[in-house]
Amino acid sequence: MQSDPLDLNEMNPSLLWSAFRFANGVSTRNRLVLAPMTNQQSYDDGVISDTELEWLRMRAEGGFGILVSAASHVREDAKGFDGQLGCFSDRHIPGLARFAALGRASGSLSILQLFHGGLRSPRRLTGVRPVAPSEVQLDFPGFELPSALREGDIEQIIADFARAAQRAQAAGLSGIEIHGANGYLFAQFLSQATNLRVDRWGGSLENRARFLLCVVSAIRSVVPQEFLLGVRLLLEDSSPQRGFDIDEMLQVVEWLGAAGIDYLHVSSRDVRSGSWKYPASGEANIKRARAALDRKVALVAVGGVRTLADAAFALGEGADLVAIGREAIAVPRWPQQAVIEGYAPAAYPLEPRELERQGVSAPFLAYLRPFGLVADLEDGGSR
Ligand SMILES: Cc1cc2nc3c(=O)[nH]c(=O)nc-3n(C[C@H](O)[C@H](O)[C@H](O)COP(=O)(O)O)c2cc1C
Repeated sequence: MQSDPLDLNEMNPSLLWSAFRFANGVSTRNRLVLAPMTNQQSYDDGVISDTELEWLRMRAEGGFGILVSAASHVREDAKGFDGQLGCFSDRHIPGLARFAALGRASGSLSILQLFHGGLRSPRRLTGVRPVAPSEVQLDFPGFELPSALREGDIEQIIADFARAAQRAQAAGLSGIEIHGANGYLFAQFLSQATNLRVDRWGGSLENRARFLLCVVSAIRSVVPQEFLLGVRLLLEDSSPQRGFDIDEMLQVVEWLGAAGIDYLHVSSRDVRSGSWKYPASGEANIKRARAALDRKVALVAVGGVRTLADAAFALGEGADLVAIGREAIAVPRWPQQAVIEGYAPAAYPLEPRELERQGVSAPFLAYLRPFGLVADLEDGGSR
């Protein structure tokens, strides 16, 4: 039995457990979303493994109303990580159907995150030279100079996204989320640092946003209205190598609302973050996104949510749903546990054995290490 949510003065955390209805009529049992997290637990060919399904099942049973999968590559050569979940072939459909079924069994919606790494799809994984809007090399170890996409390649990738969305729908999933954030292909088109094109895919903001908007419209045209279409976007990136400006992204948010998306997922390390461009304003970026976004479109906030107060803050700033990442790795039953009085958030770094109990297998542990989330025992022997 779930305890009654705590009453935290003017915050209203009980809202977190109320059902939410998207404008297309699809409902979730609560406002809590498992954030997309790459976990490297799929097989080499992109088929979802029992381990990854178990990881997701634990979070569905733990009470998350929506489960967003790890980023899933829509083409074989769009792969960005070892053990990445794939959706580039019909052979992925049966595994995705198991993801849909485990969500349904617990009353959660299962959503597939669609991904193309662009210049961050290394040859080591794909066997081919990475592609990007322009031949711009990022100064990161292991990144090679990408080749610039030709017009026909761009059209093909748009079609690949639509095809991947159709596979997700055929698998019985509730929707897809386009991974437009964190420096991958969509962000490479949006940023003036990585997009130097002078054709209709580069230059003005309208041109740089065209790829994202074309993918939205291609997907919208092949899936039914009750199939959720979300977009994850970073609103601001101050890095000179791949950055973009918040006012531009708020314009993109407005266009996405008009293009018929069902939700916008604002990527952030902290739901309380304000804009670097307007340091004195004190306004959280999610509030800015809410103001720019069509009222009918749901807003998902993410970043640093560990307690009810954090989640309630996001709702108070205009989010409809709150996604939880790192805390949900350690606490699969966060929706049930965070309401218990005296709940103490996960004390990262955690010992491998503790993470393994929460469905984190060896490849996922390896991925988590650089994030500083794993406490490695000095003797290395007690695992
Ligand atoms: C291990 C790990 C893997 C992640 N993988 C993805 C991913 O595949 N797609 C994505 O959009 N974000 C990814 N993220 C970002 C998270 O979804 C989330 O935005 C971020 O961790 C901040 O939320 P948190 O503070 O609740 O962890 C990942 C984060 C972590 C820690």
